[in-house]
Amino acid sequence: MRKAIIPAAGLGTRFLPATKAMPKEMLPLIDRPAIQYVVEEAVRAGLTDIVMITGRNKRALEDHFDREPFLEQSLANKGDLSKLAAVQKSSMLADIHYLRQGDPLGLGHAVLKARKHIGNEPFAVLLGDDLLDEQDEILNEMADVQRLTGGSVVALMEVHPSEISAYGCADATQTAGKHLRIKGLVEKPNPSTAPSNLAVIGRYVLHPRIFDILAETPPGRGGEIQLTDALQTLAVAEGPGSGVYGVVFRGRRFDTGDKLSYLKAIFTLALEHVDLGPGIREWLDESLLPVP
Ligand code: UTP
Repeated sequence: MRKAIIPAAGLGTRFLPATKAMPKEMLPLIDRPAIQYVVEEAVRAGLTDIVMITGRNKRALEDHFDREPFLEQSLANKGDLSKLAAVQKSSMLADIHYLRQGDPLGLGHAVLKARKHIGNEPFAVLLGDDLLDEQDEILNEMADVQRLTGGSVVALMEVHPSEISAYGCADATQTAGKHLRIKGLVEKPNPSTAPSNLAVIGRYVLHPRIFDILAETPPGRGGEIQLTDALQTLAVAEGPGSGVYGVVFRGRRFDTGDKLSYLKAIFTLALEHVDLGPGIREWLDESLLPVP
């Protein structure tokens, strides 16, 4: 597997007005925008041919992964080599192609846009606002399950039952291996009727048969073409490329499109940061002292 789609064309309404003129994927986490962590994760998994799905107000994404000769020259002239390397790194990470979604008609619609670029091979999808622990290698694990089963694979995470209504939810059974077989998927179910507390998170390894199904999938919840609905069809289909499987992610995950989760991501990264860690820890200790 060499190719990945990174959908980043959503409107980011949960972060308005900050995202009125700026993509939410460019919100910084310490000194890198959220999207760079996602691209770096794809590259670590060997996915160096990336299609980013963008839309209006998303030009900053393209600029971030492009060369900036004037800035680079200026840093070189000053001898600021570490900043120069940091600036150049983002433009050298991968071969990134950009496609505009037009109207943001849903995640399924965004994925379908990349059909011609992907062709007839399995590929990964990484949501541009989902941040996973850098130590975790879930994409490699998912690619192994895809090779083994010939189907499609989603990343799952156990959430508190009350939180399942914010996610796609999987009805799954254990297989002989470490992965699960998915019988059904429901987008944002009511907690009282949810089939499990296994939430679908923003990493997928898909068989290209998903494109035929997406092309036929009508708008679902919220009037959007849902990737979850297409996966549900694939889960109960027969023949080559059918079947959906799950790998449970047990590491740390943040949804950087959600304000609280974004703040938690910043504090977590800051506490672990070699330069910032001691300062932020000291400040937190002082701030959290009980008021006398
Ligand atoms: P979200 O639902 O989290 O993104 O979509 P959103 O719509 O931007 O967020 P809010 O709810 O308005 O704040 C999950 C992922 O799918 C992409 C988003 O960019 C995000 O990475 N997406 C969603 C698209 O690329 N196109 C769409 O039409 C919808």
